[in-house]
Amino acid sequence: MSEIFITDADGKQSSLQIKPGLSLMEHLRDADFDEVQAICGGCCSCATCHVHIQSSAGDIPAMEENEEALLELEDSFDSNKSRLSCQIELDESHHGLRVVLLADEF
Ligand code: FES
Repeated sequence: MSEIFITDADGKQSSLQIKPGLSLMEHLRDADFDEVQAICGGCCSCATCHVHIQSSAGDIPAMEENEEALLELEDSFDSNKSRLSCQIELDESHHGLRVVLLADEF
């Protein structure tokens, strides 16, 4: 079973089974994590799906210019960890990915 590991904004840890073809945002939203509002539905225009990648696994695509522009406006932007979770589609290769959710900035 391929899993990703989540630390929520309160520091609570949990894991989610990877459903290939869904984005990281969709995994987090479907699991009802309040930290991921995903207001734009994955169109890379809201940044309410901002997460920190604590420990990478699998093939994570490089950040596009528009993603970086949105993230740089976030208080918790970290050039080494920040990603929009809607821009990362998961597959089995991402087993072991560790993600930290961020407190609501809105
Ligand atoms: S869901 Fe809006 S930018 Fe990711």
